Amino acid sequence: MKILVLNGSPHANGPTSDMVKAFAEGASEAGHEVVSINVAYKSIKGCAACEYCHNQGNGVCAQKDDMQAIYPEILSSDMIVFASPIYYFTLSAQLQAVIHRTYAVDIPKNVKKTALILSSGSQFVYGPAIAQYYQSIVEYWGVENAGIFTANGDQNKSEAKRRELYRFGKSLRTEEVL
Ligand SMILES: Cc1cc2nc3c(=O)[nH]c(=O)nc-3n(C[C@H](O)[C@H](O)[C@H](O)COP(=O)(O)O)c2cc1C
Repeated sequence: MKILVLNGSPHANGPTSDMVKAFAEGASEAGHEVVSINVAYKSIKGCAACEYCHNQGNGVCAQKDDMQAIYPEILSSDMIVFASPIYYFTLSAQLQAVIHRTYAVDIPKNVKKTALILSSGSQFVYGPAIAQYYQSIVEYWGVENAGIFTANGDQNKSEAKRRELYRFGKSLRTEEVL
């Protein structure tokens, strides 16, 4: 299946990206096509709430920024993995902007499952991010949650965490959603 990873960390070699790489390695080895986009390096504005997408636009966003190249990836993927550092108990603003901008396409019909990868400094800080993920993605999109992975403190960039994410990627069956 085609798997899109939306990474909201501005650190290319930080713990979030480390988990993303391990996941992508496992998933690729299992035969999946993995497209990983670091949205923190893109220029993506917040939703302008202009409603162009729902009125004249027919699902096309009026804002012409880097999100235009991400829409086709979202619409053509079978699975989307959301990866983010925890900022003030929730997802990074960079990833949040991408989620808000899916307002234009509403529910991406091809996506059947999603997963969440989070890194933080402290433990017990994931509540708001996980609640949002469940309500606005898993329940609203009507998809299967394939897994939630967190790393904090010494778990960040640990071999054990890399192995966990690698194994998760590798465990995804190619025939599952075909
Ligand atoms: C703006 C900002 C807000 C943060 N807020 C939290 C927080 O609420 N709870 C926490 O445990 N860590 C917080 N952190 C720490 C990061 O979540 C942590 O360093 C994480 O491992 C960063 O991952 P990355 O380097 O892969 O982006 C914050 C960091 C920044 C820069």
